[in-house]
Amino acid sequence: MEAIVLNAIDAPLTLQEVPIPELGADEALVELKAAGMNKRDWWIWKGQYAGLKFPIILGSDGSGIVKSVGSNLPESWQGQEVIIYPAAGWGSSEAHQSKDFQILGLPVNGCYAQYVKVKSDMLYPKPAYLDFKQAAAFPVAGLTAYRALFVRGGWQKGEKVLISGVGGGAGTFALQYALAAGAEVWVTSGNQQKLQKAISLGAKGGVSYKETGWAEKLQSQAGSFDVIIDSALGEGFADLVSLAGQGGRIVFFGGTAGNIPPLNGRTVFWKQLSIVGTTMGSPKDFEQMLSFMQTHQIQPVIDGVYPLAQAQQAMERMSQGGSKFGKMVLTIGS
Ligand SMILES: NC(=O)c1ccc[n+]([C@@H]2O[C@H](COP(=O)([O-])OP(=O)(O)OC[C@H]3O[C@@H](n4cnc5c(N)ncnc54)[C@H](OP(=O)(O)O)[C@@H]3O)[C@@H](O)[C@H]2O)c1
Repeated sequence: MEAIVLNAIDAPLTLQEVPIPELGADEALVELKAAGMNKRDWWIWKGQYAGLKFPIILGSDGSGIVKSVGSNLPESWQGQEVIIYPAAGWGSSEAHQSKDFQILGLPVNGCYAQYVKVKSDMLYPKPAYLDFKQAAAFPVAGLTAYRALFVRGGWQKGEKVLISGVGGGAGTFALQYALAAGAEVWVTSGNQQKLQKAISLGAKGGVSYKETGWAEKLQSQAGSFDVIIDSALGEGFADLVSLAGQGGRIVFFGGTAGNIPPLNGRTVFWKQLSIVGTTMGSPKDFEQMLSFMQTHQIQPVIDGVYPLAQAQQAMERMSQGGSKFGKMVLTIGS
């Protein structure tokens, strides 16, 4: 089969011929139709991710058709259109993943390929209202945003939401979910066009985090927030503490702009704030996300679709930030 195999840090992302994976008894082989790209793939490519190993086929997000199944699995799976839960080994607690948790695309081979083998419990029927490209855009970013907003953020009806850095894959899903649930949503972005796009999707307003005094400006327009979703950290994170209202929850799952800066601890305890980390989500979160998507017919915001052979161009577009808004998707096969 053809796959984008990463052989070393920063090596060119080119198609190579590799063997089709052999199946264990509880595994299924999926003929991929599309793979979604995530910032994680970029961090791995650039050597900035824990547990690197080479060669590795990148890609945590995939959709396709079950080609064959291991001996323990019902043959009825064959020919089914599926979306893949992007990890294995979450474990028995809904509060956190287990030590055995593994994300598809490192350490095991992922979805930038014609075929991927996955454990059978990673397979879910593809929502019929989505095509393969749309379905492949959801898993990591959609799941992360879902758990951040509803599970770890505990959003309740009537609460106001701020999405910081809305232009990324996870940020756009957080915006769409919060809007679909009926929240008043405000956003920040480093790019005016992205602010306008977010407003056209339904955000009430937004400011650029690059502008001096952005937090004061936002507060004067919007007041304070009950749930704040962030994936950047960095200096701007301290302003999120000022922007949170009494009992607010600041939920974060990435550190694109750095680490947590010094915070005003007195503000944190006086407002009874929760600063909450989250990572991806459990299979239960994934099922609930699929149901929520289906109910609200959520269409992913896709910035660009590239053939698998152009994975490198797509990755470069993803890394530039710039005007990119939403997900990058690779198409596979005819
Ligand atoms: N822990 C997990 O499970 C998990 C899951 C998904 C993602 N992540 C992490 O979350 C981050 C975003 O992932 P992604 O896939 O959405 O990446 P992405 O599509 O490349 O987006 C990067 C995001 O960073 C925002 N950003 C950059 N500098 C910022 C700043 N100073 N203040 C606020 N926002 C800033 C950008 O906002 P604008 O473009 O609007 O300026 C954009 O939303 C990455 O670090 C990724 O590794 C973690």
